Amino acid sequence: MNINGKHWRTIWLEDDGCAIGVIDQTKLPHVFTTLKLKSCQEVAKAISSMIVRGAPLIGVAGAYGLMLALMENSCDEALEKSFEKLVSTRPTAVNLRWSLQRVFQRVQYLEPALRVSAARDEADLIAKEDVLLCEAIGVHGLSLLKRLCESRPLNRQNEPLNLLTHCNAGWLATVDWGTALAPIYKAHRSGLKLHVWVDETRPRNQGTNLTAFELGCEGIPHTVIADNTGGHLMRNGLVDGVIVGADRVASNGDICNKIGTYLKALAAYDNQLPFYVAIPSSTVDWSISDGSLIPIENRSGNEVTQIQGVLASDARKLELIKIRLSPVNTKALNPAFDITPSRLVTSLLTEHGEIPATREGLLGISERL
Ligand code: MRU
Repeated sequence: MNINGKHWRTIWLEDDGCAIGVIDQTKLPHVFTTLKLKSCQEVAKAISSMIVRGAPLIGVAGAYGLMLALMENSCDEALEKSFEKLVSTRPTAVNLRWSLQRVFQRVQYLEPALRVSAARDEADLIAKEDVLLCEAIGVHGLSLLKRLCESRPLNRQNEPLNLLTHCNAGWLATVDWGTALAPIYKAHRSGLKLHVWVDETRPRNQGTNLTAFELGCEGIPHTVIADNTGGHLMRNGLVDGVIVGADRVASNGDICNKIGTYLKALAAYDNQLPFYVAIPSSTVDWSISDGSLIPIENRSGNEVTQIQGVLASDARKLELIKIRLSPVNTKALNPAFDITPSRLVTSLLTEHGEIPATREGLLGISERL
């Protein structure tokens, strides 16, 4: 996607093939900077500290991390250890395990000397596929948004379509395009008038920091709202639909996404508004029967008691500072994700099109994989 007229992807193999480049997402939107990750250890740290984040992107980063591990040591034991190290960095998004398994299975029966180049090929392929899958979600999502526009009363047809999104499921969470935001990019480029309500998404503020940044770069009208505002807007007819991504979808269609998603789904349901979940098939965990089996990552309480930003009083000074919000030593609980039961999901938007959030709906796409 574009930043100041230049096309960027979130992750790339450096020219020497011995490191990967990433955008440091912990500094956005204030400072745009990239980092070179040269070892499996550095990739693991980048994933756990959320320099790279978003389910599909951490999957791709993990795949390249395993390639870097094999450059250091390509024996069986090192391969297994590095797999375990990378997979444990973030437990909830299933894409990480899925892509690590792809690289592992591609290299495990090869001679150690052949493993690095095979791992590189597989990681490149996963990255390339991610772009294609996300763009396909965008294409199907465009038709869905057009239909949503047309389903509004005649006297509202000329108003912008008001969508609400939570967290960041844009291109920064993937290699390019994004999941929930891909349809929005396609719609905007095709001339459909829309406006996005962006949930700030405490505690890490992926909405305020990342979604607002992305939409701004693309010139898409948007407004950041506090996380508690969505229900009020829905009751007042200011939202036409909700679209979010997911970190894992159980085989019955329950979805796991950034903490706070469930509350938005409840509010959408109560207001008879569609609640769409955009996912590539790599986000489906076929091995679990329902959402209660998805491990929820608990992150540091400091993410709740503190906040990061730049001084509001000096627009030129872009030094990032952390502010404590709570009394010293206040205990804070920080589950990073929640489960939205499938009955609250209008449909899943996948690279194969829109499907019901049910076991049968998902089985239909599993046959095509
Ligand atoms: O904790 P994060 O920032 O990695 O969480 C990301 C999300 O919850 C996204 O909405 C999700 O990964 C959707 S993926 C495009």
